[in-house]
Amino acid sequence: MSERKSIPERLGHDFLRALYHTINTVRMYQDNNQLVQNSVLAFTALLNELTASGDISLLLYRSRFHLGGEKLPYRRNAAVVLYNMMEFFSKRGIGSVNFSSASIDASQENIITSIRLFNDAVRYPNHLEWLEQKLQEHHIAWVQVFPRQNEDEMLVDENPEEQKFEKARKNYFLAVESVREVATKVSQGMVGVRRCRRLAQNIVDLVQVDSALMIGMTTIRDYDDYTYTHSVNVTLLATCLGRHIELSDIALEHLTICGLFHDLGKVDVPKEILFKHGELTNGEWDLIKAHPVTGVRKILMLNANPELRSKIILGPFEHHLNVDMTGYPHTMFTDNLSLIGKILHIADVYEAMTHERVYRTNYFAPDAVLKKMWEEAGKSFDRILLKRFIHMMGLYPIGSVVELNDGRIGLVMDYPDENERMRPLVLTLVHDDAGNWQRGESIYLADQAIPEEPGHLNITRVIPPAKLRVNPAEFFLHIK
Ligand SMILES: [Fe+2]
Ligand SMILES: [Fe+2]
Repeated sequence: MSERKSIPERLGHDFLRALYHTINTVRMYQDNNQLVQNSVLAFTALLNELTASGDISLLLYRSRFHLGGEKLPYRRNAAVVLYNMMEFFSKRGIGSVNFSSASIDASQENIITSIRLFNDAVRYPNHLEWLEQKLQEHHIAWVQVFPRQNEDEMLVDENPEEQKFEKARKNYFLAVESVREVATKVSQGMVGVRRCRRLAQNIVDLVQVDSALMIGMTTIRDYDDYTYTHSVNVTLLATCLGRHIELSDIALEHLTICGLFHDLGKVDVPKEILFKHGELTNGEWDLIKAHPVTGVRKILMLNANPELRSKIILGPFEHHLNVDMTGYPHTMFTDNLSLIGKILHIADVYEAMTHERVYRTNYFAPDAVLKKMWEEAGKSFDRILLKRFIHMMGLYPIGSVVELNDGRIGLVMDYPDENERMRPLVLTLVHDDAGNWQRGESIYLADQAIPEEPGHLNITRVIPPAKLRVNPAEFFLHIK
């Protein structure tokens, strides 16, 4: 193998993303589909660039990817890709994949066939042996697979706390995938909701066990697939609010499914319009305003029993309607929104406003968003529900980056005591030698009994995370 120069970080991430998209499109569509063709083209271009100076390996070791021997740094908008690829590797017992410089000669059919084999391997008992054998049978030379090392296998944590994080991570990313799958497949017909239902039950369980963790996870961002991560974040916030107001388990499950599907209609709106800088034309605005109705049409196409279907239509239809019946879509059928519709509206606006996006100038820190929303209580939002939402999120919403009065920077992790909504549990963050943020000590502000005492710690201000280059999601996902 010839000497290789270090791989630019951007190229590494782009490669992983291209591989991930190819795996997904091949899984969902026929070989001759344009999306499959495009994703394979994009993938091979990057593959050829990477293997131009020799073979390259993609290794999963201790929950991190290493490409060409270098650890792929965690990037704030790559979480969905990283975790789904990790799952993809683990489910098949893959430890590493070697991409050969022979890839330059691989035909498009050959690449599609190989990716199909990777996808299918999971259905056979000895995944990896099956895959190795099939790759050989098909004379596939551009890619080889190697099993996971034992020591990495042993790292599967038996600690219940770690298992909780693992379950939370898994379900979050599974949810993103499921929404993507339903959204892209539903127009072709025959999409069942059984998997989404099971997923919704898992999400409800997780919210029951640790709602602070689930709120914290809504700081996950993915700019490339914003509609999908947004849908999952809205789902988590809505389900947590549902639990906070003590909805029954079955009502929570319906609320969760509504959250996952609330923006199904957005998939039909071109990305150039959804993420347009500048003002929208009337026509573009009409397209956006149509998404609740389009979404309902898609839900009606789902293969679900009529009873469930009737429970998951109203919320997505109403999620952009205000309690004073302004907003969209314009309707004369009702003057009173459903509970699910009102909850989704609150969760949706909070998620969108705390989400800093390239094209947005009006981005606010989480506490400022709650203040702004409160100005709209009784007009946009149901006053009582919004009050409960603010109570649940706390004065400094979970996931906020804060400065303490001793100058330290911290992350609001939880409000362990129902009655202490001003003094959260804060994880302090410290800069390491490379200038990256690492976990410091955890301080429960409510534990400090005497506020007048010198040295008493409190929060002095909330800082937008991007300003300090903090990615809160990393700390909730427990990868730091
Ligand atoms: Fe929407
Ligand atoms: Fe939304």
